[in-house]
Amino acid sequence: MNKKIAVIGAGNVGATTAMYLAEANFADVVLVDIIDGVPQGKGLDLTQAGPVRGYNAMVKGTNRFSDIKNSDIVIMTAGLPRKPGMSREDLLAKNADIVKSVGKNIKKFAPKSFVIVVSNPLDLMTFHMQRATGFPKRRVFGQAGVLDSIRMRAFISMELGVAMTDTQAMVLGGHGDTMVPLPRYTTVAGIPIAELMSKDRIKAIADRTRVGGGEIVKLLKTGSAFYAPAAASVDMCRAVFNDEKKLLPASAYLSGEYGIKDIYIGVPVVLGAKGVEKIVELKLNKSEKAALQASAKTYKKHLKFLGY
Ligand code: APR
Repeated sequence: MNKKIAVIGAGNVGATTAMYLAEANFADVVLVDIIDGVPQGKGLDLTQAGPVRGYNAMVKGTNRFSDIKNSDIVIMTAGLPRKPGMSREDLLAKNADIVKSVGKNIKKFAPKSFVIVVSNPLDLMTFHMQRATGFPKRRVFGQAGVLDSIRMRAFISMELGVAMTDTQAMVLGGHGDTMVPLPRYTTVAGIPIAELMSKDRIKAIADRTRVGGGEIVKLLKTGSAFYAPAAASVDMCRAVFNDEKKLLPASAYLSGEYGIKDIYIGVPVVLGAKGVEKIVELKLNKSEKAALQASAKTYKKHLKFLGY
């Protein structure tokens, strides 16, 4: 294959991302981890599934960052996952060190790549990654909004008994307790959900979406979600590779849009071959705007812990 994607971190999110990428069959995959043998073993295992899963993608596992050389996209999943009772913010200091060292390696070995950040706390780690690589902001973005919106879509589908693929949802803000699900921009086959369910049910679904990651952490007890986060990351890779100009929510750098400046936060973007090609400004109502501003305020505060 002539395209190459590096996945940093061969844990739950990283290995599942490598699996979905191989199945998408659009690039070879390099899986990098610091633990000796784990990325190599998982890479070989995934490559060997190719003949029956119908893909030709090779998945190479490695402990050497130099192997990410010439990658078109790097997906950053390395870091500690949440444990029960831990907020995404608790992960801040630990994952910040990992992001910084990985960012330096990405800059060195894959200087032309796009970087999709998945490590939490997402919006802060995406900011940190952009600073560590020094890449243009359109080339560094965070995967969170796609995950949050597919969670909301799944809940709507489960509630109404309609096809998952007919649902659309928009979720803005930080990937955490301050996330802002937007029922006004959520539809089933173009029909606003307000026409299909009661206010109470819409609120319940928005609330469940907001704590969607925590619900899974509580169930798993030993880690956090990985199937849907991995699937969401692959969707973003596809948008870049195929220049899809896909309108989706992502953690992007704002320079005054929505009245917010100098942070990464979840907003609708157009994703294509140049990365974040456009930030779409929705006409938010008063309470939606206030919720987004409050979310931004939290992240501004947390950025100070990282020395910004
Ligand atoms: N370079 C490469 N890999 C690293 C590094 C590093 N500097 N530091 C840690 N890792 C690896 C670990 O060895 C581990 O294999 O990252 C992997 C993380 O895997 P898991 O512990 O299974 O965590 P996972 O569930 O995949 O979550 C990873 O994604 O969704 C977020 O909150 C989640 O921040 C977490 C990240």
